Amino acid sequence: METLITDNIEIAASFLRSGELIAFPTETVYGLGARIDSDEALQKIFLAKGRPSDNPLIIHISSQGELSLLTDQIDELSQKLIEHFWPGPLTLIFKKKRSISNLITAGLDTVAVRMPAFDLATSLINKVGIPIAAPSANRSGRPSATSCEHVMNDFNGLIPCILKSPSTNSIDCLTKYGLESTVVNCSGEQPILLRMGSIPFEEIQKVIPNLIHYQTLNSQKESQSILSVIPLSPGMKYRHYSPQAKVILIRSLSELPLDNESKAFTSSGFIGLEASVDSHSFQNIFQKSLLCSSVEEYGANLFSFFRDCDSEHIQTIFCETPPRNGLGNTIMDRLIKASLD
Ligand code: TXA
Ligand code: MG
Repeated sequence: METLITDNIEIAASFLRSGELIAFPTETVYGLGARIDSDEALQKIFLAKGRPSDNPLIIHISSQGELSLLTDQIDELSQKLIEHFWPGPLTLIFKKKRSISNLITAGLDTVAVRMPAFDLATSLINKVGIPIAAPSANRSGRPSATSCEHVMNDFNGLIPCILKSPSTNSIDCLTKYGLESTVVNCSGEQPILLRMGSIPFEEIQKVIPNLIHYQTLNSQKESQSILSVIPLSPGMKYRHYSPQAKVILIRSLSELPLDNESKAFTSSGFIGLEASVDSHSFQNIFQKSLLCSSVEEYGANLFSFFRDCDSEHIQTIFCETPPRNGLGNTIMDRLIKASLD
């Protein structure tokens, strides 16, 4: 199959309407979408990604009104979060309506929903006329795709269409955040953050102060010998965000035995923060390096840097660990998962 790259929303919407998959940009990462009312279309997502069927999908909506198609129970805390963060990179978990396909929810009684803050995405959903289920548009286990080119690398010939922004001529323009949405579940007794993401934990805690991270909750329960440890978001147990290169985390460049004659790092990459590095000291040592001027820039470029290193067959990527607060924690989460074998 030939993969069409287009900036024409009508063409992309017509693929979705007829039960085909398309990849589309959001403010976080590219999604691989299918209409929510066709199991045949939804199956294609799992097949194309090589995604395990017990990992549920996020439903993307274009207006708050569409939420009532998916759930009858919008709790008070979720409502507060919607008011603060939608449209935006926050996914909320609700008790699902019976009509929602089990393929989307992987048999759970809850459904994950988000409203992207990206006009092209919401216009697309609006044109299709029903919400769109979409995981990140990468082959399972790979770093998420933050440009049209990344999607092509993973899905060329496997999906019929990629929608790209008309505002950019280049196919390698990156999505704004470059990290996935934050996932929060307020539908139970205790509001829990299930996946760190583009909105930092602290920002959400400002709106709902009793928000707790699932790891904190699990360690509390363990210490109290309560057996019902909360399961993670199902997707969290899988290998994630991994480039082909080996990812090694370092606190600072001084951990590496660098000197200007060093040949040991020629097939290596380095990504880190400008502020902590003397940029002249190592420029010629790594095959590829990226110094970011902020944690936001680090987050927006991380997956793209991983993929660029892979296309240059770099074998080792050294990643400087970011400060352990705000978005730094989200980046750290991705780095740790990417560094696991
Ligand atoms: O930014 C994003 O969230 C991107 C863009 C495309 O919207 N999407 C994305 O989807 O990252 P995906 O499928 O790669 O990650 C969805 C995460 C998975 O960890 C999945 O297990 C979790 O959300 N999830 C989905 N439904 C859930 C549910 N009912 N309960 C708990 N976790 C759920
Ligand atoms: Mg994903």
